[in-house]
Amino acid sequence: MKVLGIMGSPRIGSNSNILLDEALAGAAKAGAQVGKIILVKKKISGCLDCRKCNETGVCVVKDDMPEIHKKILEADAIIHSVPVYFWSMTAQMKAYLDRWCAFFDAEWRWQKDYYPRMKGKRIGVITVCGDPNVHTADPVVHSFKSTVDMTKMCWLGAVMTSGAEKGDIFQDDKARKRAFELGQKAAKLC
Ligand SMILES: Cc1cc2nc3c(=O)[nH]c(=O)nc-3n(C[C@H](O)[C@H](O)[C@H](O)COP(=O)(O)O)c2cc1C
Repeated sequence: MKVLGIMGSPRIGSNSNILLDEALAGAAKAGAQVGKIILVKKKISGCLDCRKCNETGVCVVKDDMPEIHKKILEADAIIHSVPVYFWSMTAQMKAYLDRWCAFFDAEWRWQKDYYPRMKGKRIGVITVCGDPNVHTADPVVHSFKSTVDMTKMCWLGAVMTSGAEKGDIFQDDKARKRAFELGQKAAKLC
């Protein structure tokens, strides 16, 4: 059982990273093998909408995304953790998510070769926003949940939290507990 964490905050010591580490600790405790990708450390360009991948399933852009595609295919569950930037997700996470295009054909169906590995894959998201109202992150959750619904993956749920300064989330025991539990859930079959 492999659980992959995708960290979408560009800052060191971020609340998103603290929560993702909690989730991965939960997954490891439940027996999963865990890994983490810090998106800001990777070169990930935006999707060009060239549609070449619709035929081949392979993205033409030469950057670090193909190695991440491979890790996504290998994972049983993926937990994304991302702050809200301007009522949306960070540029790093959006570039990553747009590059999921490579998994689909022109009709937004899984590429045949990928289908067996993507079907039922478990997806969760953790959000952090500066606003005390955690629902500021609703558009971010909507992006991930809609992707899951469209593609028959398995939705693990969202842990939505607030925190503005680095490490604020250490004051929120409930948020860290919910992140840990999301990780535990990710390690089990949907
Ligand atoms: C460019 C930028 C835009 C932001 N936009 C919002 C926003 O629209 N709503 C909000 O609640 N917080 C916003 N924030 C605050 C962050 O969501 C908040 O600082 C969060 O703790 C960052 O998460 P991190 O610690 O994981 O990096 C913004 C921060 C930055 C740097």
